[in-house]
Amino acid sequence: MKKTLLLIIAATLLTVMPLSAQQHWMNEGGDRENAMHLTPDLENGLDVFEVCSGCHLPEGWGTKEGTFPQLAGQLAPVSIKQLDDIRQLNRDNPTMYPFALPRSIGGAQALADVVAYIEKLPMNPDNGKGEWVAGTIEYRRGEQLYHDNCIQCHGETGEGDAEKFYPLIQGQHYNYMLRQFEWIRDGKRRNANPDMVKQIAGFSDKDMQLVINYVSRIPVPKEKLAPSVDWLNPDFD
Ligand code: HEC
Ligand code: HEC
Repeated sequence: MKKTLLLIIAATLLTVMPLSAQQHWMNEGGDRENAMHLTPDLENGLDVFEVCSGCHLPEGWGTKEGTFPQLAGQLAPVSIKQLDDIRQLNRDNPTMYPFALPRSIGGAQALADVVAYIEKLPMNPDNGKGEWVAGTIEYRRGEQLYHDNCIQCHGETGEGDAEKFYPLIQGQHYNYMLRQFEWIRDGKRRNANPDMVKQIAGFSDKDMQLVINYVSRIPVPKEKLAPSVDWLNPDFD
């Protein structure tokens, strides 16, 4: 674990990111298409995931304050697309970039393997939430915004849509989602879906907080959750 952390710090300091201002929702030329059609090998998925666990934790739960997103339970095609976009510098992630490269983890097969492993991990029963509890005016306003602007893509309960690469957002940490939502609105997350960008263009910072507060509080179905907040990934014994 210590070694992983040191590696992480070293690589972060050494990485220089070339910048490209172009927006690409569906980038061509990477491993996405191939990875989608391969049969995953879960054992190799676990091997690959060991390096990821240095930041996203062995449970894949990320951190409540939102620096590291929860990966557990994410739809496999969504994770493939995000990993491929990060590898191709179509989504900026300087912290993670060196660890996601084919020379560190492998090509399309490694993507298929690690995302299958991640999708099966039980989710965090205690994700980071916004400040407004159910019943408050702010909560209800967020719920309304969600119904009017998000359901058609992310689904009634934020379950996402694997076929269309729409992420599962239920159970994700509030601060992480707020950051991504703002970056999507403001054009900083270049791989964003242009229809989402259009849909949320008029959102004020307050609207953004209210709708993400609501999303962070959508209950995750019990069968997707770990049995308790103290659950530890037994593969890491
Ligand atoms: C050095 C720390 C670090 C390591 C190691 C790391 N990640 Fe990440 N990862 C991050 C950070 C930070 C983010 C969020 C970046 C942002 O805010 O845009 C992220 C985001 C992601 C996302 C996007 C999630 C989403 O909801 O869109 C995926 C998928 C992901 N990581 C998978 C992996 C996998 C698989 C590995 C191992 C091969 C890995 N990460 C290793 C730091 C790391
Ligand atoms: C037209 C479909 C569409 C609509 C409408 C839409 N989204 Fe999205 N959303 C997406 C897609 C697709 C992505 C992933 C983009 C990518 O690949 O980078 C995304 C990404 C996100 C993310 C980042 C998830 C992550 O794991 O990084 C959040 C948070 C989010 N959407 C919230 C919302 C909310 C809240 C609304 C309504 C106010 C909304 N979206 C409306 C399609 C949509």
